[in-house]
Amino acid sequence: RNYKSQTECRGDINRLSAPFLAIYESLIPSEEEKEKQKQLMALLNKHVTREWPGARLFLYGSCANSFGFRKSDIDVCLALGDADIDKSEILLKLADILKSDNLENVQALIRARVPIVKLMDPVTGISCDICVNNLLAVINTKLLRDYSKIDVRLRQLAFIIKHWAKSRGVNETYQGTLSSYAYVLMCIHFLQQCNPPILPCLQGMARTYTVNVDNVECSYFDQVEKLQGFGSQNGESIARLVWGFFNYWAHCHDYANDVISIRAGRLVSKQAKDWTRRIGNDRHLICIEDPFEVTHDLGRVVDKRSIRVLREEFERAAEIMQYDPNPCVKLFEPY
Ligand code: CTP
Ligand code: MG
Repeated sequence: RNYKSQTECRGDINRLSAPFLAIYESLIPSEEEKEKQKQLMALLNKHVTREWPGARLFLYGSCANSFGFRKSDIDVCLALGDADIDKSEILLKLADILKSDNLENVQALIRARVPIVKLMDPVTGISCDICVNNLLAVINTKLLRDYSKIDVRLRQLAFIIKHWAKSRGVNETYQGTLSSYAYVLMCIHFLQQCNPPILPCLQGMARTYTVNVDNVECSYFDQVEKLQGFGSQNGESIARLVWGFFNYWAHCHDYANDVISIRAGRLVSKQAKDWTRRIGNDRHLICIEDPFEVTHDLGRVVDKRSIRVLREEFERAAEIMQYDPNPCVKLFEPY
């Protein structure tokens, strides 16, 4: 099923691309900031390998998937070969080691859903969260980064959507709205299903990269330099895509029956995944399949109240994109 627009798009849509691109440019991290991140990683590496010689540190999340804004915190994963370790013990030890250097606000949060050590480096001014053996996140970070290299419009669209979600207060998983990771998957899905497609389905192509993590086989085509120009048959402007994204989630998506899956490169049915009813806390009111942990619905955080908030925000944004003479003001208005 291809997405059919509910309304004809306004005629002057393309003149809106310039202000969207200006917002995108203003949010991109500087080279200087990337350098500082490397500097902090080198410092952390020094401490970690002294204590655990076989260990490795990976950046993951927005600082590594290419969808990060300037001045954001960094997410780091400490990978220890041994799977049977006591994560709390490791994190408490790590916190002790880092406290002895001149890092600030070092805290081990071992009761969190993903236990971490938090810290702030006064030299670079960067804050950082370190988790242990969360390798699936490292792999999905690579997948997102690889998608972003195929067509620049993905990065532009995702920046605009994340900026909108943060401005409108719908990027708060603890309040039942969606994670940044979920929004990026929604953007990838949208660009896979437009016609002609702007993105391919990397997991549906010949595998050139395979790793096994936590009994999940992660494989896909990662030679993305060979896919340059993939989306060039589709000449839609960034403004048209932003319009299309909001129109899709406001008026076209079938929330009752469909699951978005970038793994499959198309919609799959809730029925097929047995996501038709509430099980425990998983209500499946908006279904976004994780590309590797396919039993994992990123929409699981959304409840009866927050699905209304989300859908009203999609409708509001679609309306602004269709009718407002200067949408960039209203779209990002603080809620
Ligand atoms: N992640 C995941 N499963 C989730 C949520 C997050 O695997 N349900 C992993 C992903 O690798 C993601 C990373 O954790 O890239 C960080 O998630 P999140 O904070 O949502 O995204 P960021 O990209 O860091 O966004 P922000 O710029 O808002 O910090
Ligand atoms: Mg983050």
